[in-house]
Amino acid sequence: MSVLFKNIAILAGTHSPDTIRKGPLKGAALAHLPVIENAWLLTDDNTIRDFGPMSEMPPDIHAGQVIDASGRILMPAWCDSHTHLVFAASRESEFIDKIKGLSYAEIAAKGGGILNSANRLNAMPEEELYQLAKERLNKAIKLGTGAIEVKSGYGLTVEGELKMLRVIKRLKATSPIPVKASFLGAHTYPLAYRDNHEGYLQLIEEEMLPVIASENLADYIDVFCETGFFSPEETERICRAGMQYGLQPKIHANQLNLSKGVEIGVALNALSVDHLETMDDAAIQCLAGSDTIGTLLPTAAFFLGMAFQPARQLIDAGCAIALASDFNPGSSPSYNMNLVVAMSCIRMKMQPEEAINAATLNGAFAMDVGDITGSITRGKLANLVLTQPVPSLAFLPYSFGNNLIERVMIAGQFV
Ligand code: NIG
Ligand code: FE
Repeated sequence: MSVLFKNIAILAGTHSPDTIRKGPLKGAALAHLPVIENAWLLTDDNTIRDFGPMSEMPPDIHAGQVIDASGRILMPAWCDSHTHLVFAASRESEFIDKIKGLSYAEIAAKGGGILNSANRLNAMPEEELYQLAKERLNKAIKLGTGAIEVKSGYGLTVEGELKMLRVIKRLKATSPIPVKASFLGAHTYPLAYRDNHEGYLQLIEEEMLPVIASENLADYIDVFCETGFFSPEETERICRAGMQYGLQPKIHANQLNLSKGVEIGVALNALSVDHLETMDDAAIQCLAGSDTIGTLLPTAAFFLGMAFQPARQLIDAGCAIALASDFNPGSSPSYNMNLVVAMSCIRMKMQPEEAINAATLNGAFAMDVGDITGSITRGKLANLVLTQPVPSLAFLPYSFGNNLIERVMIAGQFV
């Protein structure tokens, strides 16, 4: 059914097909969020058919439903390009331990952290895991997420990793929004291979990747490139193994240390390098001179009490920046992209226009869906967020933590 939105106070993100063809917005271009004030927009069955200023609305439009959007913003749905949405159990007991002052290492020593999630996940049947993930995804969609990337990495066994990726494959088939899958077998070394890293690398190369490729279970290869997790050399080796099966790298880089993850990602033409809490000039310049997107995850920095990502320096150096939630039970238990955008403005000094572009169009490019979603462009999916009446675009991040979304449309249907 077609829907006509009339009297839209601000139609935001009306990027032209020319802009989109060029790929993600880099550097100063990120601040340019095209808008039409007092606008109309018409959807088809599932796409954006046409839009423009009210003064130029054709008189003969026939729509199945007409919505008066006076005072409201209509914008592209969020594109969340980095999540760990599939997991068996939350970890709020570790949260309490952290409040009491325990360090990450102490929590891991008590059986917490990624290995805790892996134990729980390996014990859970696929069907239950799928149901939990689907419920979370539906809640994220209601908060305005219209495309998502989901990682494995809580299995760390052949069966566990394949189970996670099969769950993601089912989400792809059943979810109304575009879903992309990243294989993160190299999230941490499992206990069984604590003293045999070579054995685990071979397990990834010889037992996991061939099955993932033959069942078409992943779009990207991910590695946690970090001190105490996977070294730069190991990261490169695993990325290259994935690339042999057509999986482009999309890696965890420079979260806790100057891990060289950025440099390796750029050298391997990674689609994105994600986190980037810990950057030096060399890493910033390296990223700026590349086609790799830097995906910032401010809610993870917030939850872990770390310094935020140097968004301003990255943008000023000319990098392409995306924003994502990193939704996971250990370091970012929130899938709320509205909060991600607010935090980026409040704590990383991003302009509202920059943050919205980074969380929509650039997020879409960071998971290869920039041609079908992420902006208000004719022919793209009608994945849209309609806000409550608000005075301005800046009111969205300013009024942080308040849910200002009135309706979410996915592929032309209200959810
Ligand atoms: O993206 N950095 C590595 N992985 C996750 C957290 C994993 C966990 O604690 O479960 C992240 O922050
Ligand atoms: Fe992550």
